[in-house]
Amino acid sequence: MEKHEDVAALYHYATMIEKDAYMDSPTVSWPGFFKQYYCSNRVELPEPLRHSGVDTLSAIRLRRSRRSYSPEPLSLLEISTILYHAVGIRGWDGDWPLRVYPSAGGLQPVEAYLVAERIEGLEPGLYHYIPLTHSLCLLRSGSYMDILSTIALGQEHIVEAPAALLITAVYARTASKYAARSYRYIHLDAGTVVQNVYLVAEALKLATVVVGAFYDEELCRLLSVDCYIEIPIAIMPIGKRL
Ligand SMILES: Cc1cc2nc3c(=O)[nH]c(=O)nc-3n(C[C@H](O)[C@H](O)[C@H](O)COP(=O)(O)O)c2cc1C
Repeated sequence: MEKHEDVAALYHYATMIEKDAYMDSPTVSWPGFFKQYYCSNRVELPEPLRHSGVDTLSAIRLRRSRRSYSPEPLSLLEISTILYHAVGIRGWDGDWPLRVYPSAGGLQPVEAYLVAERIEGLEPGLYHYIPLTHSLCLLRSGSYMDILSTIALGQEHIVEAPAALLITAVYARTASKYAARSYRYIHLDAGTVVQNVYLVAEALKLATVVVGAFYDEELCRLLSVDCYIEIPIAIMPIGKRL
């Protein structure tokens, strides 16, 4: 322990699984699989595309972080296809949802939000993705790309994007089983979601990049969430390629 004095190293050390030492007991209770907003303005998404003509191995090889976006709007079908293949429900095992992303213990901590600026058929605003109905709930109308860029330490490419996904994790979902080790797992879970977005963007010939540099409290304020309950993990601007 003496060798590691920074907090990350301490955390890493403290949450190692060791033989014959049982892990921490959870101290939080299960909050349920889904965040439910009272939603007076829900937008049904079209059926997502099931095929793109780009095979998986090519998508993995061709994937890049792309930070230049055309001013053209995205279609609702593109947004639907990305959201479904990033975090959608692919089936059920009884009343247990099965997701397109792998998740520690199958506990599914990831939430997805959409900042829409130029999407055909969608009012500009901040939306929450509802996996149960594959729809969007409008949380607040308005233009948020400028503020999102400011929140991301002034990264200018974000202002140009017609949309951005915001990825968070509801910590208690995972912590209700894995206690303190969960802080590792939620980032692994969310990382698989991020790669899903990259690969779907590649399949649809769109541009995206994962942005991990942002002011946490400001992003939580934009989302009206408590940063200690729902942890912001990534911003992913998305647009057509220039
Ligand atoms: C955890 C993480 C955080 C990142 N944060 C940013 C960011 O804030 N801004 C940005 O432009 N790119 C960001 N990136 C993208 C990396 O710069 C990019 O993946 C890297 O340069 C390799 O390029 P490639 O993705 O095209 O292979 C981030 C990537 C990861 C995995």
